[in-house]
Amino acid sequence: MKLVILGAPGAGKGTQAEQLEAYLRVPTISTGMMVRKAIREQTEFGKLSKAYIDDGQLVPDDAMIKVLDERLRKKDCRHGFILDGYPRTVHQAKDLENKGIIIDKVLSVEVPDELIVERLSGRLECGNCGASYHVKYRAPMEEGICDVCDSPLIRRDDDIPEIILKRLAAYHEKTAPLKEYYAKQGKLCVAEGQGDIKDTINEVFKVLELGVTD
Ligand code: AP5
Ligand code: MG
Repeated sequence: MKLVILGAPGAGKGTQAEQLEAYLRVPTISTGMMVRKAIREQTEFGKLSKAYIDDGQLVPDDAMIKVLDERLRKKDCRHGFILDGYPRTVHQAKDLENKGIIIDKVLSVEVPDELIVERLSGRLECGNCGASYHVKYRAPMEEGICDVCDSPLIRRDDDIPEIILKRLAAYHEKTAPLKEYYAKQGKLCVAEGQGDIKDTINEVFKVLELGVTD
């Protein structure tokens, strides 16, 4: 399965990807996590990306495409993958096709803009494995500690209201057109994501025709 997850910032792409990864047994590739890791490690790509991510803008296509290409060449992608946050522009989507990478399904998780700021203001993320938590909707078992890998949970630098609004604007301008792009190919599966996490997971499995979750 080669699956793409689309959705506004905070729509729940990462949260849904965790469930889908366990079910589909293919790796999740989160380009946002890759960018943050590169910034922490101060690679050339990280240094280039920092100004964009700090300002809520997308990283330029050419640089993002190069990094993604390297990741997709790794062995664990042989039997498929889940792309969380890629492609994010029509140019990135066309580039995948030009390289013969055919996506099977595209999941769009839909959440109204009004809910996004509240969601992201309460988000906590594992600095190590990237697992996503929420102070109200998905609290970790032990405060401040990741359930999966016991690492400390952090707040992301781009989860402040001013930057969240810029990320939302970038989503509507550059990424939302991908819905029509993939709908025309008959690949778009739309899930409402404003319910609670469990309801949304059930909805996602239903629209992707994957069977039951528990
Ligand atoms: P990225 O890390 O992908 O950020 P994003 O798209 O802004 O999305 P988020 O990770 O913030 O949200 P999410 O949808 O994963 O939601 P989550 O599951 O955490 O990208 C960051 C940056 O990197 C971009 O701005 C860009 O600069 C750059 N970048 C990345 N990819 C790029 C690309 N392809 N091209 C160019 N630049 C790129 O959930 C959010 C919160 O809500 C959590 O607290 C969660 O617990 C909670 N929650 C989730 N679902 C529910 C629910 N149903 N009910 C209640 N709470 C919920
Ligand atoms: Mg995410």
